[in-house]
Amino acid sequence: MTIRERKADHVEICLGVDTSPGYCYWNDVRLFHNALPEVDAGEIDMSLRLFGGKLDMPLVVTAITGGFSGAKKINANIAEACAELGAGMGVGSERAGVRGIDPDSYSVVKEYDVPLVIGNIGAPQLVPQKSGAVFGMSDVGAAMDLVGADAVAVHLNFLQEVIQPEGDVNSKGCFDAIRDVAREYPTIAKETGAGISREVAARLRGTGIIGMDISGMGGTSFSAVELHRAAAAGDSIREAMGSSFLDWGIPAPVSLLEARNGLPIIASGGILDGIHVATSIAMGASAAGIAGAVLREAAESAAAVKEKLTLIREELRAAMMLTGSADLKQLSKARYAVLGETRQWLG
Ligand SMILES: Cc1cc2nc3c(=O)[nH]c(=O)nc-3n(C[C@H](O)[C@H](O)[C@H](O)COP(=O)(O)O)c2cc1C
Repeated sequence: MTIRERKADHVEICLGVDTSPGYCYWNDVRLFHNALPEVDAGEIDMSLRLFGGKLDMPLVVTAITGGFSGAKKINANIAEACAELGAGMGVGSERAGVRGIDPDSYSVVKEYDVPLVIGNIGAPQLVPQKSGAVFGMSDVGAAMDLVGADAVAVHLNFLQEVIQPEGDVNSKGCFDAIRDVAREYPTIAKETGAGISREVAARLRGTGIIGMDISGMGGTSFSAVELHRAAAAGDSIREAMGSSFLDWGIPAPVSLLEARNGLPIIASGGILDGIHVATSIAMGASAAGIAGAVLREAAESAAAVKEKLTLIREELRAAMMLTGSADLKQLSKARYAVLGETRQWLG
């Protein structure tokens, strides 16, 4: 199967079926209501500086796609909406684009004034694999140039790699490779739905990265995505493995608390609305990240993405008002309670 087909498959599966493990960990975290907020909702300031960009709201539409013809429209729709609402965005893994496969499906982002653009490469591609040539430092530079990136995310997707039939399953040398990338470029370490633990966050900090996108468990599960690809290909072993690992990973809010170590964090994995965004900031994130919950809109139109992001912004504004938070600094001090399975995870 070609990269182009695989990328199209990912989008098609995520649009067609529920790929989440079915438990919303963010709903386990509740912000304390403030009955006397002394805040004018119309004056709430949601702006922040993140990785060199100035955002009007603490949201990044994280890496979704690129590398097949249908991806151009998706990235253009996301870019147009993020430019208008002052949100950040990432593109999907750029290996395809750098190798000349539908590069305009990525570079279309440059046509919009997006305040923060995050490029994307895979950690597995930075070390030797059976599947092909190692992604070198000049390739990373090309990936950044392709989208005019402010920073590059190096994604850690070993859950997916170990489940998918054509996976790159060697992870030896990734630490050194990330450190080498971080020496040259502003680098974010990013999971893809299984979360980052305290220990891994500490090691990643040692590479010189500028931040992390924890992408914890609870939203899009690449195990589920691979389960559906395996089922379509009649590969019963991989299908069963996808099912077994469907809810593998660290729940996103737990990962956020684990990974906090002074670096800016994008909290992603199962973020569905503006209350989740507010919660993540109260728990220590600089911004939230969203992918699966905006995919249908991104495949539809820029207007649909704008409407979704506007709803999230207004929910966030309401949550800020109701916690007595006039800005993100005050929201970061809002009191919260942790319930349910998430509380059990925290022991
Ligand atoms: C269709 C699709 C493709 C994705 N491709 C990438 C990718 O190429 N690189 C990456 O770092 N993350 C990729 N992701 C992962 C997301 O950036 C995000 O970390 C993950 O989906 C969890 O967020 P969510 O629960 O809001 O979807 C993809 C997600 C989706 C839904």
